[in-house]
Amino acid sequence: MPAIVLVGAQWGDEGKGKATDLLGSSLDYCVRYQGGNNAGHTIVINGEKFATHLLPSGILTPGCTPVIANGVVVDPAALFKEINGLNDRGVDTSRLLVSSNAHLITSYHTTIDKVTERFLGKNLIGTTGRGIGPTYADKINRMGVRIADIFDEKILAQKIEAALAQKNQLLVKVYNRRAIEVDTVMEEILAYADDLKPLVADTSKVINDALDEDRTVLFEGAQATMLDVDHGTYPFVTSSNPTAGGVCAGAGIGPTRVDRVIGVVKAYTTRVGSGPFPTELLDEDGEQLMKIGAEYGVTTGRNRRCGWYDSVVARYAARVNGLTEFCLTKLDILGNWEQIPVCVGYQIDGVRHDEMPMTQSEFHHARPVYEFFDGWNEDISSCRAFEELPKNAQGYVKALEAMSGAPFWAVGVGPGREQTIVLRDG
Ligand code: GDP
Ligand code: IMO
Ligand code: MG
Repeated sequence: MPAIVLVGAQWGDEGKGKATDLLGSSLDYCVRYQGGNNAGHTIVINGEKFATHLLPSGILTPGCTPVIANGVVVDPAALFKEINGLNDRGVDTSRLLVSSNAHLITSYHTTIDKVTERFLGKNLIGTTGRGIGPTYADKINRMGVRIADIFDEKILAQKIEAALAQKNQLLVKVYNRRAIEVDTVMEEILAYADDLKPLVADTSKVINDALDEDRTVLFEGAQATMLDVDHGTYPFVTSSNPTAGGVCAGAGIGPTRVDRVIGVVKAYTTRVGSGPFPTELLDEDGEQLMKIGAEYGVTTGRNRRCGWYDSVVARYAARVNGLTEFCLTKLDILGNWEQIPVCVGYQIDGVRHDEMPMTQSEFHHARPVYEFFDGWNEDISSCRAFEELPKNAQGYVKALEAMSGAPFWAVGVGPGREQTIVLRDG
């Protein structure tokens, strides 16, 4: 099974970092194909906690080559901050490769991200403020700056000048901000040129060669299906394609290469930022899920909105990603409830829907229809086999599997690498 895709099946923070780490020793390459340092993955190895943002989680796997592919947007300051932070803790990052075609996040992108959010007022998206949207917008507008441009100062200056000629109009005339100087941006970028140079590669070729040699390559999605710019809750989404289809364009491989697509799904649901969320709990149960599940953002520190498991979302993720399996995470967090509701469908303007409605305005009106499952009221974090789980926890997992549209491969019962129950061989 050489090419494995791993994607978030909900609104992010499902535990993709831990799931990647779980595949661990079998991985030769771990590739990020979209997003940037808006991601935040926590990985706990032997009780030690690591957080990755822009770097693929496989950076923590000895012997694995981490790759930042062409579809990613790269803030060089964030990249080297993360590399240096890991190096200081003894992690070897020397195998890292970065695509020459990946786009650069510059200071004008982060500035525009932040001022646009302020301008939107109560309609804000709740972005991470990392410049992700404006950088992808420039890419599609054909006025982006790519990694390769850093090594040709003349071209770089031309591109930055052209971009700022437009951005400064926006900043000064629309947002009433100070203009940004070309020289300042040039300096900020060129400061990283020497460090960046040895990392730069034709990553599409590297990945395809690896697959030809039957190496195991994991394509690690950041964000998630419901944050996908095409398939998510637009406009409350990120500006890239985290869904499995995004792998091909974002890493430069053909669809025929992919063997296995794993959807990571939490035993309940969380969301950060604005946008519809049918099973959201604005009561004591929501507070409890947030506290017990430690649902605070790894990147921005914001509280995550919490709600019950939504099988409509899971079925949708199974469909749009062509999932071959799910990895269910954080089952241990549900040990405190007598009864656990699971959303099995929606009521939308008086009509029952079993699948994701076609339009966003319908989704905004979706009210969850719940089925209730008996809780287990005990700590399951030391269970290592399905049979060791309390009967009601087994029943909950089986019920979710039956309604989610793909078989369950593994179940997480704690943040540690070993706190996992593998249900079947991958
Ligand atoms: P990602 O962005 O999808 O990688 O997820 P995050 O790292 O942002 O959030 C998931 C959080 O849940 C992290 O703090 C993980 O350490 C933690 N985690 C992952 N799997 C489990 C699990 O099965 N049980 C518990 N209790 N925590 C988990
Ligand atoms: P991981 O990889 C959860 C959300 C933001 C905001 C929207 C757009 O850790 O699962 P952006 O800065 O991307 O333009 O913000 O997307 N968002 C995430 N939510 N987990 C993430 O990453 C996210 N990355 C972006 O909160 O609502
Ligand atoms: Mg996260």
